[in-house]
Amino acid sequence: MATDKHLAREASTTLIAAKGLSDAVLRTPEELANIVSLFASSDGWMDKVRLRAEGRWYERLYHGPDYDIWVISWLPGQSTGFHDHGASSGAFVVATGILEEHRPFERTRVIYPGKPRAFGPDYAHDVRNVSLAPAISIHAYSPPLSEMNEYELDGSQLVPREGASEKAETLDQEWSVQRQRRKPRTDTLSIEQVLSAARARLRRLSPDEAYEAAETTEAILVDIRPESQRAIEGSIAGALVVERNVLEWRFDPASSTRLPIATDHDLRVIVFCSEGYTSSLAATALQDLGLWRATDVLGGFHAWRASGLPTVPPGKASTINTATHR
Ligand SMILES: [Fe+2]
Repeated sequence: MATDKHLAREASTTLIAAKGLSDAVLRTPEELANIVSLFASSDGWMDKVRLRAEGRWYERLYHGPDYDIWVISWLPGQSTGFHDHGASSGAFVVATGILEEHRPFERTRVIYPGKPRAFGPDYAHDVRNVSLAPAISIHAYSPPLSEMNEYELDGSQLVPREGASEKAETLDQEWSVQRQRRKPRTDTLSIEQVLSAARARLRRLSPDEAYEAAETTEAILVDIRPESQRAIEGSIAGALVVERNVLEWRFDPASSTRLPIATDHDLRVIVFCSEGYTSSLAATALQDLGLWRATDVLGGFHAWRASGLPTVPPGKASTINTATHR
């Protein structure tokens, strides 16, 4: 991936320049802001993101001598609590969703996608997702994050939490263990949360964008509706019919019942269903198989028809059907 290559190049340049950890060049907050912005606008993190009901999910995606990069997912209601980042400077940017940043004596900042926040060492804040949708953020620290201290708000002062300093490289695992201990566990997600999580991983297309992609690129429109629905609603000329129950088996390049076109993971599959709900889950199922370009159509067939795009009336076969048994 372009960003991975970029980061690898940058890391190797830094390694050559630094000749070892002790001489590593530290990044300024402004440089870190550029790094997170660049990374967020790439596809380098999308297929790695997971969401967890019991606490924020995070993963260190890059660990170089002078800085590291993390991706964090936040379900509604999840927050960090007040903390600092030890001696590290840092920056973060919201990739999708909305977050809030809280600091004593300062107005709450609402953080929208695309505008990074940057800070120097010993900066303390509490970052929260108070919205109704999941959020994903990209963070970078220089030197790489090796310590965090947690605080409680006592009146308007931050006071260190008893025994809440974290050191060492295992911070990533320890965070997660701490959060699990502190919060009551809930192992289930509602369908709204599952759907929001799926859509956070997709760059969904409007009907016009899907039409354009199918007409002008190698993208394939895939109709996953059951036959009973197609018979009532009609269809899209040229769309490939692969019903939902066999979708993964038809598109996994390693499957013995794959379609002839499903030879690699770069295939650009644009899934649609009736109204654009099931299709989001189906598209992420394809992404889980490695088809990283899979996405779906906003509003599904209904929105396509409402946009005035070409359709075929019910009963007139125009689609390419595939076997519906596994
Ligand atoms: Fe932070």
